[in-house]
Amino acid sequence: MNVGLLGTGHYVPTNVVTNKDMEKIVDTNDEWIRTRTGIEERRIASDDINTSDMAFFAAQEALKESNVKAEDIDLILVATVTPDTPFPSVSCMIQDRLGARKAAAMDISAACSGFMYGVVTAKQFIETNAYKNILVVGAEKLSKITDWSDRNTCVLFGDGAGAAVVGPVSEGKGILSFELGADGSGGKELYQNDEDHLMMNGREVFKFAVRQMPDSSVNVVEQAGYNKEDVDYLVPHQANIRIMEAAREKLGISEEKMATSIKRYGNNSSASIPIALSEGVKSGKIKDDDLVVLVGFGGGLTWGAIALRW
Ligand code: ACO
Repeated sequence: MNVGLLGTGHYVPTNVVTNKDMEKIVDTNDEWIRTRTGIEERRIASDDINTSDMAFFAAQEALKESNVKAEDIDLILVATVTPDTPFPSVSCMIQDRLGARKAAAMDISAACSGFMYGVVTAKQFIETNAYKNILVVGAEKLSKITDWSDRNTCVLFGDGAGAAVVGPVSEGKGILSFELGADGSGGKELYQNDEDHLMMNGREVFKFAVRQMPDSSVNVVEQAGYNKEDVDYLVPHQANIRIMEAAREKLGISEEKMATSIKRYGNNSSASIPIALSEGVKSGKIKDDDLVVLVGFGGGLTWGAIALRW
């Protein structure tokens, strides 16, 4: 059976925080942020919008785009490191709000790779005929765990959510190959501390990511039986434009074939890939039959990549 993404959706808060705005908060400047990271602005959710709200909005759109009713969802997987509360899970919160009465629900913790882990998990349940339609969401209110006095991290992150309905697709379409991985020995490089702040050894994470994202991208393309140049669109985790460029260059594809929502949204952790994917579909950059590569890395350390025929 072929399993693919039936439709996608996303939500970002309306409040835009530019690099110039960041200059008023910490000792930084627009030039440094743009050249080192590729970020120009980010969206920060207001106090009355939590992770589950953004997850709900993105999920509603994904259901609409998929033509799947909430009551026909069998399982909800929400990837997040910033749930409203440790329990109940964000997935249970949106199960109720969506009216997905028959859906089981659980959250997934794989940091920025969470959406990849979610989609690959969904694929297994569908292939075994246990379930038919699975809602996978990546949602983060990173502003809750950002140390707004630390210029090394606070300029990098933004809030948002992206979602997809995973289900059976026709022959030749859908997920062709995947790779998931973890290296717990790198947990100390990216973690949440006792004060609930996100802590990061930027240089170490950079070194890991700049090797892992290009390698995983090539691995899934080759596993799927294609050549690098066959890739029509690359949706990398939006953490740093220089890391993303490394993946694009290793595939040898042109600039227009890579999603760069990082400019407008910064790093949205588990939400960055589904947001960029949803925007790619909406804008027509991802077309029917395109060979699309999704690739991410994050805390854990974790990583994941998927090659799929749209
Ligand atoms: N504004 C101005 N200067 C700054 C800022 C800032 N916002 N932040 C750091 N600097 C300074 C540093 O203090 C340092 O100064 P020094 O040389 O006087 O000590 C200098 O800039 C260079 O710092 P580096 O850390 O070497 O800068 P680098 O080029 O490595 O870029 C960055 C830092 C952007 C964080 C990079 O290392 C990176 O992107 N790493 C990967 C981060 C990542 O991808 N995280 C992903 C996951 S996050 C998640 O999972 C939720």
